[in-house]
Amino acid sequence: MTDINSNDLMSLCKRRGFIWPSFELYGGVAGMYDYGPLGCALRNNIVEMWRSIYKGREGFVEIDSETVNPREVLAASGHVENFADFITYCKQCNAPYRADHMVKGFYENPDILTPKELEEAFVKHNIRCPACGGELGEVGEFNLMFRTNIGPGSARVGYLRPETAQGIFVNYQNLYRYNREKLPMGVIQTGRSYRNEIAPRQGMIRMREFNQMEVELFVDPEDKDWAKFPEIENETLDLIPNTTLELTTMTVKEAVEKGVIANRVLAYFVYTTKQLLTSLGIDAKRLRFREHEKDEMAHYAADCWDAEVLLSYGWTEIVGIADRGSWDLSRHAQFSGADLTHLKRFDEPREMEVEKIAAKHKALGPAFKGKAKAIAAAMESMTPSDVKDGKLAVKVDGEEITLTEEYFEVVKRVEKVAGVRVVPHVIEPSHGLDRIFYSVLEHAYDSKDDYTVLRFAPAVAPIKVGIFPLMEKDGLDDKAKEIYEKVHTHRMEAYYDGSGTIGKRYARMDEVGTPWCITVDYQTLQDGTVTIRDRDTTDQKRIPADSASAVLEELLAGRSFSSL
Ligand code: GLY
Repeated sequence: MTDINSNDLMSLCKRRGFIWPSFELYGGVAGMYDYGPLGCALRNNIVEMWRSIYKGREGFVEIDSETVNPREVLAASGHVENFADFITYCKQCNAPYRADHMVKGFYENPDILTPKELEEAFVKHNIRCPACGGELGEVGEFNLMFRTNIGPGSARVGYLRPETAQGIFVNYQNLYRYNREKLPMGVIQTGRSYRNEIAPRQGMIRMREFNQMEVELFVDPEDKDWAKFPEIENETLDLIPNTTLELTTMTVKEAVEKGVIANRVLAYFVYTTKQLLTSLGIDAKRLRFREHEKDEMAHYAADCWDAEVLLSYGWTEIVGIADRGSWDLSRHAQFSGADLTHLKRFDEPREMEVEKIAAKHKALGPAFKGKAKAIAAAMESMTPSDVKDGKLAVKVDGEEITLTEEYFEVVKRVEKVAGVRVVPHVIEPSHGLDRIFYSVLEHAYDSKDDYTVLRFAPAVAPIKVGIFPLMEKDGLDDKAKEIYEKVHTHRMEAYYDGSGTIGKRYARMDEVGTPWCITVDYQTLQDGTVTIRDRDTTDQKRIPADSASAVLEELLAGRSFSSL
């Protein structure tokens, strides 16, 4: 825990237009928030910094897929079957509770307890309904997906997506073609996801409708390396491996060499996550990476590291970096029947024994007459993996025909082959955008003696510069407005303020984290200079008014204020 009071911060966020509880007019809905003007700007800036790393530095591509998904997609992904939390209801007042949350404080990691262990824990520790003191009932499963119907009636069941990742997996073939059939292939997507949380709490940490920034990196399963790894291998990470459960600091290279992080590509993206979070203003001393315990891992993950930050709520997961292995593509291939592999080309075609489908022409002719030739060709274009339960389904002239082994056989032949087909593995840095947003706010929050400053990194600050006339008269206001018009763009958001004492205006800007303020005073009318004030040091310098835009661009690009 930290000494920050999250209620004070949330009330600042509400008052200054960062975040508003949704539907407050109608009493609100737990776990739902709207972003106000400053919140939107801050969130967009966070997304832009994420893009600059993944799309810019790494050259990944971005897509935008549907949020309503047909049931088949989420059955294949395992979410219909597995995406549930444990629920218990009070036997007296019927209030629902997330069962593992009820035993927090008694167990280090309550999410790994079974329903029976949770029920036993209620009795052992005399845990009762917080609302009425009643006994807690049996523990059952509650699927977290919002269910809906696509089209009228209930002909086609759909769900609001629980993660943006699936939209990338189901587009694998399109993306693979776009990427000219090469691996590694990195794809990013940001957007809304939905989880019908049993009991949302901790403000923005557990929302029912939330924003993700997900990265799905498709790699050759036998080549989990990353070309840029040497550039970062001597950087350090604070890690809690699941073997020791102890915090240990080591270089990225050591983490891989000692087998703490399974491979170089996973380690590279754990470090990339640290780079992103610290550049957003997350305090490196309040950031660590914890490996999931084996029984804590999501159904799709082979390994997973959480980026956890220290907040007023305690250590909180804000990014998960998972090795999803071949889970997603194998399952979608199995459920859809599509080929979701990668052809790993040899340098030169090689002669290899391969299994092929061979049509039994003697049986096909009498049975299918004029269509026999077309059926034989269709069968021979397929592969033995297309045989299901000893049968092969082909389409000829729009007609689907199922053939038994009476009409085909699997034979071995030596052929020149271009390569082998492998199912790519997926490395996934998955970012909870709202959690990152909240963490950026908490780590920037500095409140003493009734004076609050949000010490945002300039790149994420929603307003970059406040522009004030010392007095709203004598032409100072006209000059300040003229500067505002020149400086303000959507990237360099400026805010004109002419009301109240200058001290109050600085305070208003400090409270929303504006890194710089420009003031037009009487000297401006004489020599054309204005003051520029730095939020964190409160130092002031004079610069020519005409150079305001250029100076602000330089400061935003990293020039130090003291060098002005
Ligand atoms: N795609 C991982 C997650 O949504 O948690």
